[in-house]
Amino acid sequence: MNGSWCLITGASSGLGFETAVRLLHRGASLTVASRSAGPELVRRLRARVEAEGDRRSAGAAPEVEAIAMDLASFASVESFLEELESRGRRFATVVFNAGAVASRARRTEDGYDEMLQVNFLSNHLLATRLIESGRIELAVSAGNGRPARFVFVSSEAHRSSPDVPEADLFEIGNYGMGQSVRWYAYSKLFLTAFTEELSRLHNPDDRVRLTVLTMCPGAMRTGIARDAPSILQPLIRLALRLAFPGPEKSAEMLAHLAASPEFDSHTGLYFHLSTRKEKDVRARDPELAARVWRETKEVLACRGVSSHDQ
Ligand SMILES: NC(=O)c1ccc[n+]([C@@H]2O[C@H](COP(=O)([O-])OP(=O)(O)OC[C@H]3O[C@@H](n4cnc5c(N)ncnc54)[C@H](OP(=O)(O)O)[C@@H]3O)[C@@H](O)[C@H]2O)c1
Repeated sequence: MNGSWCLITGASSGLGFETAVRLLHRGASLTVASRSAGPELVRRLRARVEAEGDRRSAGAAPEVEAIAMDLASFASVESFLEELESRGRRFATVVFNAGAVASRARRTEDGYDEMLQVNFLSNHLLATRLIESGRIELAVSAGNGRPARFVFVSSEAHRSSPDVPEADLFEIGNYGMGQSVRWYAYSKLFLTAFTEELSRLHNPDDRVRLTVLTMCPGAMRTGIARDAPSILQPLIRLALRLAFPGPEKSAEMLAHLAASPEFDSHTGLYFHLSTRKEKDVRARDPELAARVWRETKEVLACRGVSSHDQ
């Protein structure tokens, strides 16, 4: 990845932080984005890479910049895109890693379920706007002839999503802790269906212009349960410590999916850690994928944040 710029969301902790470290070791310059992204995160990433020693084979030291972005706010995603434009940043690779499990239903300032907006709606907005604004080096424009690459972090949970309703895809009612994983699954089903449609739309023939890969990193000990009630936190931390591995192994795979030339002529693949699998049948349903795409565009257009279709 020497000399290429990569954007990774949610690199302030867990899987994203570990993946960012590995991408820096591979020589990629990074833009990291999340709510808390700032100089402190840049310092932490640099310190970790320095402590591990320079593993790059060649090239100038990679750059790292951190820009704050809140996926729970379309306005924040828009500001982030404007900031990228003002910096003239263009990416060969984007890792859509940021995600959240909310402990209960909450509405965003845009009027949507927070988990749905963070895990899916804003990723649609970010991905499509990166392409439309030319922030991505599609195969046509890339200097090295390699297709641009999008890697999405989804979850095997997408298979246990509730059924998709006939009416109003994005209207999720009230739920508490007992139901939050169900609605997390729903948001990841939409994300996974979106990756299928994104891949199809941008690769209409045999030539891959945009490699779109989707991954479930497996259950890991990260900050994912941070929104759980504080009274349960000690128990959750203990359970995570006893039952789940840290994010290191998953980060190896995510960095591999982001960097390896092995995937240059592939797109639309889904991995559960390193195992290639089919997405849930609903995520592969072209009708559902087209409907999710269309209705998301309508939602974004209503909010005045959408532009044209590809
Ligand atoms: N842990 C697991 O067992 C597991 C299993 C399957 C899939 N996953 C997926 O793996 C990905 C990484 O999660 P993780 O396990 O590493 O959890 P984590 O440690 O909680 O990391 C989540 C990252 O997402 C960012 N984020 C959360 N809400 C955000 C928002 N509103 N706007 C922008 N960024 C936001 C956080 O940064 P800020 O706080 O700075 O915003 C953080 O960097 C997620 O997509 C998750 O769904 C995790």
